[in-house]
Amino acid sequence: MSSDGVTVIAHPLVAHKLTIMRRKDTSTKSFRQLLREIALLLAYEATRDLELTSIEIETPLTTMQAPTLAGKKLVFAPILRAGMGLLEGMLDLVPSARVAHVGLYRDPATLTAIEYYFKAPEDMEDRMVIVLDPMLATANSATAAIERLKQAGAKDVRFVCLLAAPEGVARLRAAHPDVPIITAAIDDHLNDHGYIVPGLGDAGDRIYGTK
Ligand code: PRP
Ligand code: URA
Repeated sequence: MSSDGVTVIAHPLVAHKLTIMRRKDTSTKSFRQLLREIALLLAYEATRDLELTSIEIETPLTTMQAPTLAGKKLVFAPILRAGMGLLEGMLDLVPSARVAHVGLYRDPATLTAIEYYFKAPEDMEDRMVIVLDPMLATANSATAAIERLKQAGAKDVRFVCLLAAPEGVARLRAAHPDVPIITAAIDDHLNDHGYIVPGLGDAGDRIYGTK
């Protein structure tokens, strides 16, 4: 994790897969599959500081003290709907994680985040919560989702995305300085419609084949 709270994953597989995802002629099937694969690599980084404890186990040869995850199961919190595209890959790596669903959409005129659904596990205060959304653009959605999760008790929160705009990174860090950001890339800028440039277009539409 970098000192400014922002980690950009530097890995050749991530860079290669992201390039394919950006191409406008990449199919829905390939886009969804690549997002799942990159999610697993992002999850690896986002869970780097999960706490461990020690238990005694028996191997075929002897007994030993061995590390095991401590505390309560972590929570993945996808922001609907595009965040669901990251969830499967995360669950591939951490199959026993709990899931909190945060339903938000961007009003296309104002770019503000409108909540339409929220459901989270109990005991959020005792769990690491990893918020998932492929795109961090204005950060209105991420900021609102994290606010809502904190209202539900979340204390140890991190935000994972695929692509971020510099404007979004700055706004999210200002609104929630305690929340580290893990991303595959930080792009150039936001356009007048709040789209990340060069970006990959509308992530939800590309995952689900809608327009
Ligand atoms: C997209 C994306 C983020 C949000 C990012 O969702 O998945 O949630 O925009 O933009 P922001 O940082 O400016 O808030 P969208 O509202 O298009 O909904 P969808 O996931 O249902 O497609
Ligand atoms: N949401 C998206 O899906 N793409 C963008 O570029 C910005 C917000």
